[in-house]
Amino acid sequence: MDGNGRWAKERGLPRIAGHREGVESVRDTVEACGQLGVQFLTLYAFSTENWRRPTDEVSLLMRLLMRAIRDETDKLHSNNVRMKSIGEIFRLPKEIQEELHDGIEKTKNNTGLTLTLALSYSGRWDITHAVQAIADDVKRGFLSSNEISEERFAHYLSTNDIPDPDLLIRTGGDMRVSNFLLWQIAYAEFFVSKFYWPQFRRAELYKAISDFQQRERRFGMVSEQVQRKPTMQKNIHSLLHRALGR
Ligand code: IPE
Ligand code: MG
Repeated sequence: MDGNGRWAKERGLPRIAGHREGVESVRDTVEACGQLGVQFLTLYAFSTENWRRPTDEVSLLMRLLMRAIRDETDKLHSNNVRMKSIGEIFRLPKEIQEELHDGIEKTKNNTGLTLTLALSYSGRWDITHAVQAIADDVKRGFLSSNEISEERFAHYLSTNDIPDPDLLIRTGGDMRVSNFLLWQIAYAEFFVSKFYWPQFRRAELYKAISDFQQRERRFGMVSEQVQRKPTMQKNIHSLLHRALGR
């Protein structure tokens, strides 16, 4: 979710105003995903590298995050959303860890959208952390090095209970991955939106999904070997037209 600061700057507002407006985009996107029947949504809310921002901005972001989790948990719960988090959660302020823990506990048996918040997350951290855990297991004799397959490695990542993403959306126009789910995005389709995150609402989400549905995913094979699945195809097109016509 990128571009909050630029959105605010263009309007002569402080950066935090962009972050605040960005929360509205989170609300709309999560709701739209739930309604579409998307099963997994992972939001890159705060990266390991974001800790390097000015302390004022970091603490304002933390306060905003705290409030958003507290205010939204009940609604997420009533919408059957299951909350999850990945990242170095122990680095977050204690109150946020508690709110997050309560939200995750409360929603753990829900069966709708799994909403994963990536907080103090980076792809390299995830991989390094997995390597440490594997090394520990090898040392304790639970695992031998020739048993380390790609599949088994993935079990040690923070995303072990969610599938690899099909679609990665980046807002704000930059063409880079910025240390997001590095291992997991091996075959993800990319969609880069020119919209800053605060402007990203369901109409742009529908566009991203519609675009995704036009792609042919070959996974290294040739066109004839892969069959296109028309998942949600009709549904998304009528939604897109309705959203754009508004
Ligand atoms: C994304 O917007 C929000 C977070 C990283 C928390 P930015 O704050 O990175 O916005 P720009 O890139 O400066 O416009
Ligand atoms: Mg940015």
